[in-house]
Amino acid sequence: MCGIIGYIGERNAREVILEGLKKLEYRGYDSAGISIISKNSLKTVKKVGRIKELEKDKKVKDLFGKIGIGHTRWATHGKPSEKNSHPHLDCKKKIAIVHNGIIENYQSLKKLLISEKHKFNSDTDSEIISHLIEKFYEDNLEEAVIKALRLLEGTFGLAVISKDKEEVIAAKRGSPLVIGIGKNEKIISSDVAAVLKYTDKVIYLKDDEVAVVHKKTVLIRKINGQKVDPKIHKIKWDIKSMEKGRFKHFMLKEIFEQPETIRNALRGRLSRSKIKILDEKNVRDIKRIILTACGTSWHSALIGKYLIERIAKIPVEVDYASEFRYRKPLILEGDLLVAISQSGETADTLAAIREAKKLGASTMGIVNVVGSTISREVDFGIYLHAGPETGVASTKAFTSQVTALLLFSLFLAQTRSIRIPCKTISELKKLPKKVKDVLKNSKKIREISKSFKDSKNFLYFGRGINFPVALEGALKLKEISYIHAEGYPAAEMKHGPIALIDKEMPVVFVATKSELSKKIVSNIEEVKSRGGRIIIITNPKNKELKKFAEYVIEVPSTDEAISPIINVIALQLLAYHIADLKNLDVDKPRNLAKSVTVE
Ligand code: F6R
Repeated sequence: MCGIIGYIGERNAREVILEGLKKLEYRGYDSAGISIISKNSLKTVKKVGRIKELEKDKKVKDLFGKIGIGHTRWATHGKPSEKNSHPHLDCKKKIAIVHNGIIENYQSLKKLLISEKHKFNSDTDSEIISHLIEKFYEDNLEEAVIKALRLLEGTFGLAVISKDKEEVIAAKRGSPLVIGIGKNEKIISSDVAAVLKYTDKVIYLKDDEVAVVHKKTVLIRKINGQKVDPKIHKIKWDIKSMEKGRFKHFMLKEIFEQPETIRNALRGRLSRSKIKILDEKNVRDIKRIILTACGTSWHSALIGKYLIERIAKIPVEVDYASEFRYRKPLILEGDLLVAISQSGETADTLAAIREAKKLGASTMGIVNVVGSTISREVDFGIYLHAGPETGVASTKAFTSQVTALLLFSLFLAQTRSIRIPCKTISELKKLPKKVKDVLKNSKKIREISKSFKDSKNFLYFGRGINFPVALEGALKLKEISYIHAEGYPAAEMKHGPIALIDKEMPVVFVATKSELSKKIVSNIEEVKSRGGRIIIITNPKNKELKKFAEYVIEVPSTDEAISPIINVIALQLLAYHIADLKNLDVDKPRNLAKSVTVE
């Protein structure tokens, strides 16, 4: 999704902004632009395509100034083009704005502004903001921005500069914005990743706050004029965790980080057989849990349902956040809504939390990004501590989510004096080591991938707690390799997907030891007899299955409750190697954004 960066300080703003835009690339974008104030003139350059192209442009190389803003755009209103990319200017080319979010009433405002002789250059909703500011601007930029914002319906993360002012105005409603606090410089961004190089101190703007940012000061007030005393947070992520290091792609690095990220999710939360993850009073009266999320995080919610119902005996519903928010859900006394999100900024998940709160549920977050909007809006929560996830396709966040959900299930059982399964605890302790062992399969999986890289379709089957793993394996493959892939519970095969099976069709079975593993054998036989190309993920001892498979990927045996974490890693590697062998841009797949901050 779109990214914002702004700078005011003593460095060359162009360099900070280009560097920041590169850090925002992973979020997905189709065009980018930059505006710099230089000797009372405002210069703007925009380009469709990669930041590299923008950087090479002679006009960009000539930019020099100490105040500026930049943007990566992910098209919503108006196709990707130079005129539609940000920054957007006013008629006199004095004011420049960059905007994330969607202005819902832009059409009526545009009509009004056109009737007042404003000339528009783009098809975007965002451009009305620069014209509205122009309409209200006399000599106080903050006042003009506030007057403009009062007319807007929708969401915004916004940075504004004017060529006659030594300040950047930042504002937010529903779209994240942080201000990095350096000594004689401030960096404004939609993503903490772009700030970390300069400072680890940040202010998270809250909804309807407007900041006047000078190189030495930040003054914040609410759109209603009320003064705000901002809190400065210290970010613990280290800058190295945001670099690829020896790996070809961030996705591969993040897959290989999983022994460590799972260890981090467990750290301090599992001592002997006691689980310490939340304050007991928050969960004592829960009667039902609603897990809500999008995409990969929704798959971890599906696994969470199996875990919580089985271990803690509490009924669980799982909802796509986008559906929950609009389906007029019934919230009952004792309901807890748990929102799961890597970024903590997903618009639908955030809206589901707000809806649940309105209806009287208590809310909890399972979130990776510290200080993100979701983490701040829920009543209480669990952080994943997986560090920054840069590859657009989520990997380490997913296994940390499942680890956190497992700890949460055990904790709920503990608070209800339900016996905690000893095998699960002892296997949890061995998990980081077993994850290392799965990763040893990477070379072998690359070899297997060679014979599937030109496949057009894939089917994934799993049962019980590994059915969501089949969904996740299919999602990973389609996202980064553009091969059509579907996941199903294996028993559903006969109810439709079996019609697709012929000798061209690769079929992946997640068939590690479980209560249902015997039942999956007949599905495998049915695929075999129709000539499908079978890949089986199973444990070393499971000899019986191997005779059916063209390829077998062996993963360590573990407790069934933990098996999704181990099994999915084999599927992450399969998706990664297939996409890499196809020479695709694994970290930035087409049309996808890392953090989906619009509906
Ligand atoms: C898939 C993927 C997406 C996200 C989804 C939710 O690899 O990354 O499906 O899982 O957009 O994002 P978060 O977890 O940030 O709320």
